[in-house]
Amino acid sequence: MSEAILAPSILAADFNILGDQIASVQRAGAKWLHIDVMDGAFVPNLSVGLPVIRSIRRRSDLFFDVHLMIEDPIRYIGDFAASGADGITFHVEAASDPERVIGEIRRCGKKAGISLKPATPLEAVLPYLDQVDMVLVMTVEPGFGAQALKRETLDKVRELRKIAAETGRDLRIEVDGGMSRETILDALHAGADVFVAGSAVFKDDIEANVRELCVMIGG
Ligand code: DX5
Ligand code: ZN
Repeated sequence: MSEAILAPSILAADFNILGDQIASVQRAGAKWLHIDVMDGAFVPNLSVGLPVIRSIRRRSDLFFDVHLMIEDPIRYIGDFAASGADGITFHVEAASDPERVIGEIRRCGKKAGISLKPATPLEAVLPYLDQVDMVLVMTVEPGFGAQALKRETLDKVRELRKIAAETGRDLRIEVDGGMSRETILDALHAGADVFVAGSAVFKDDIEANVRELCVMIGG
């Protein structure tokens, strides 16, 4: 397993002071920033898009971990790559040809991730393990922050980590949704090594939240 990474999700940030809050998580030692992109079609919510990523890119050198919760993502891979994404993760449920989407992310020179919803069986992403850098296991239903962890999804993390170990793959496994002081160690022990946290980070003392969660995962 690679070094554990905390990826604060800006979905929970105060967009009135987004730049300052990103600077806070960076000061506290976060290396990644999780950027949730929602289109109101694949998920019943809208969030941020290309202009926001372009703006925050100018001010931050964090690894931009862009999570596309959008229909037919192939249409926008080039745009997100050009806007400043470092890693682009799409949903297997949203792509008619996942291999083509992965190839496009690679052509743009970015890290490639594939994601699956809680109800989607792990088998849906297994054919792509040799082509991606990361699998994002949704630990809540995508579309909203501040939901409770769906504990049964950690079984997929355990199974995926076992497959990766048995086949000698250096695969990052990201968990996304419901990560907090109370749940993050369960995800770590299940085999995750990237931890998205929105509502557990962007509240009260942001820097203290980041430092505490990073210490917990040993990141
Ligand atoms: C949900 C998003 C998650 C969400 C996490 O669709 O993909 O990244 O922002 O929020 P918390 O950490 O509050 O559950
Ligand atoms: Zn996300």
